[in-house]
Amino acid sequence: MTLTGAGKIAGVVGWPIRHSLSPLLHGYWLEELKIDGALVPLGVPREDFARVIASLQRAGFRGVNVTVPHKEAAFALTHSRDAAAEAAGAANLLIFHADGRIEGRNTDAVGLRESLREAMGSLEGKTILLLGAGGAARGALLALNDLGAAKVHILNRHADKAALLARALQPMVSSQLLPQSLTHWGEAAGAADLVVNTTSAGMKGHAPLELDLAVLRDTATVLDIVYNPLETQLLKQAKARGLKTIDGLGMLMHQAAPSFEAFFGTAPEVTPGLRAHLEKALHA
Ligand code: ATR
Repeated sequence: MTLTGAGKIAGVVGWPIRHSLSPLLHGYWLEELKIDGALVPLGVPREDFARVIASLQRAGFRGVNVTVPHKEAAFALTHSRDAAAEAAGAANLLIFHADGRIEGRNTDAVGLRESLREAMGSLEGKTILLLGAGGAARGALLALNDLGAAKVHILNRHADKAALLARALQPMVSSQLLPQSLTHWGEAAGAADLVVNTTSAGMKGHAPLELDLAVLRDTATVLDIVYNPLETQLLKQAKARGLKTIDGLGMLMHQAAPSFEAFFGTAPEVTPGLRAHLEKALHA
């Protein structure tokens, strides 16, 4: 069976998938642009991922967005990849081509870059404190480098992971990477223009990081890539300290835009109306 002729269909695959905002996000753009299409949420356990992807290809899906925990498995299924996916070793977008090839992309770094560009413009000459050294930190490093960041301190609970990440990415970026343990926060924070949290601490159900924000400059900005809750404990503390904050919704909207264009053929716009629509859903 194929779905050809039944409108344009794409999916978002994750486990769990219940809380994904992607269907709502793409649905908003589909309606706004009057496109006959749908983005379907698909909860798929790890062991079924490859099988489900093959079925969706056969069923005529245009492609899928991929979220936790499948981004590395998705990368492994691709026949071609963009530079961001290569650098991350992970794909959050699979595009199914008519000849059976699967193209993999990673739009997370672009999403963060565009969200940061919107809020801060260029990062030339700036010092950044990046919290975390996992997959999300890897993408964030590319975004920070694209915007011209001079220095990036990578602070991680396990310092060896920060060192490994710096060693792997330093040849690819011009920003100076300085890996350290999270316990060095007090020494590094005073020089930071921007703090970017990529750790899973602070997500719904996870305890927040215990950081003393008093050591930050009054002009520093704090960004959390987490969007559920929208105002994490870290952002709440930063606001209370009078600092500028950037939540994770900007990154989410901007990472979805290239996926939408790949699935449905039109470049959508990230607007205040879209943000309000998603905020309403998050608060519901
Ligand atoms: P992702 O791909 O989303 O980045 P990950 O690879 O599991 O996910 O990485 C999670 C990151 O959050 C890691 O940097 C992790 O620190 P460690 O490498 O030291 O484990 C960080 N992290 C998670 N919980 C944390 C906590 N309670 N305190 C400090 N760092 C935490």
